[in-house]
Amino acid sequence: MKSARAVAHTNIALVKYWGKRDASPADLNLPAVGSLSLTLDRLRSETTVAPAEQDSFHLNQEPASGEVAAKVLRHLDRVWQAAGHAGARPACEVRSHNYLPTAAGLASSASGFAALTLAAAAAFDYDPGRPALSALARRGSGSAARSLWGGFVRLERGVLPDGSDCRAYPLQPQSFWDVRLLIVHTEKGPKAIGSTAGMQRSRDTSPYYGPWVDTSEADLAAAEAALAARDLPVLGDILEHSCFKMHACMMASRPPIVYWRGATLDVIHAVWRLRAEGLRGYVTSDAGPHVKVLCAQDQADELAVRLRAVSGVHAVDVVGPGPDPTVEVSA
Ligand code: PMV
Repeated sequence: MKSARAVAHTNIALVKYWGKRDASPADLNLPAVGSLSLTLDRLRSETTVAPAEQDSFHLNQEPASGEVAAKVLRHLDRVWQAAGHAGARPACEVRSHNYLPTAAGLASSASGFAALTLAAAAAFDYDPGRPALSALARRGSGSAARSLWGGFVRLERGVLPDGSDCRAYPLQPQSFWDVRLLIVHTEKGPKAIGSTAGMQRSRDTSPYYGPWVDTSEADLAAAEAALAARDLPVLGDILEHSCFKMHACMMASRPPIVYWRGATLDVIHAVWRLRAEGLRGYVTSDAGPHVKVLCAQDQADELAVRLRAVSGVHAVDVVGPGPDPTVEVSA
């Protein structure tokens, strides 16, 4: 094997993914719905996979162990198996660094598993093309499948039992539309529940799960058309609808899944108030208390200043569309 380094940027879903397909093996990690995302500039994971005497994983310069390291090593096994090499996987040293807002609770799994998939595939001399690598990244984390491209990306739900058609593809490149996403960090409490367990609970107990799944394709089609037309108010309306539908589905689970804190709602109301004043921001939020706001480039700084003044807001990052991932191989 060789030594390879990959850089992949994180992404935020504008049309959300929540729920796994029924009766699919857990290891395939097949989503019940498609999703549409924006890859972000600056916020990224940089991962190196190199030959070693024994397996190890360092995250942000610190040795990692337990389930965190086990997930990474399991993913190396998947890439090795997909590559079809004979024999056991060689031992690897994996070093990953996340350039994400410090202590933001912003998930690193999207950029992390995308970078790991690309670096491992290159280290193992496996080049099936980005679509197949996107399907492989999905097995580490659903959102990682979308970080195989910059700009605006769609993850297809797919129908094949082996998941080979459940992969992302690029819709529009980084340069297509110079929008901004504000990441509004609010107070944190204990995390309600991890996304995999949360999705399972929603599927098993939420009366809104069926309608959530059934309406997602229409949101995707509408969002894709609004994106192609660079129509911010229409896209904004769809992304808010998708976000509130997902959170309604979560909240109606038993026991309820509530990721929001008081400050989350205060920020949402502030965004709506500011919108009535002409600052056009549109909210979305994931499995945590932070709020992300999509807006035009020329209103981003003003919106950020106004949202920093909301009580309970710790910081606001302003981020634009991000690039494709990169991979470098050394001997
Ligand atoms: O890919 P995961 O397991 O981190 O799940 C992502 C789920 C959401 O962030 C809530 C929505 C999404 O589409 O990213």
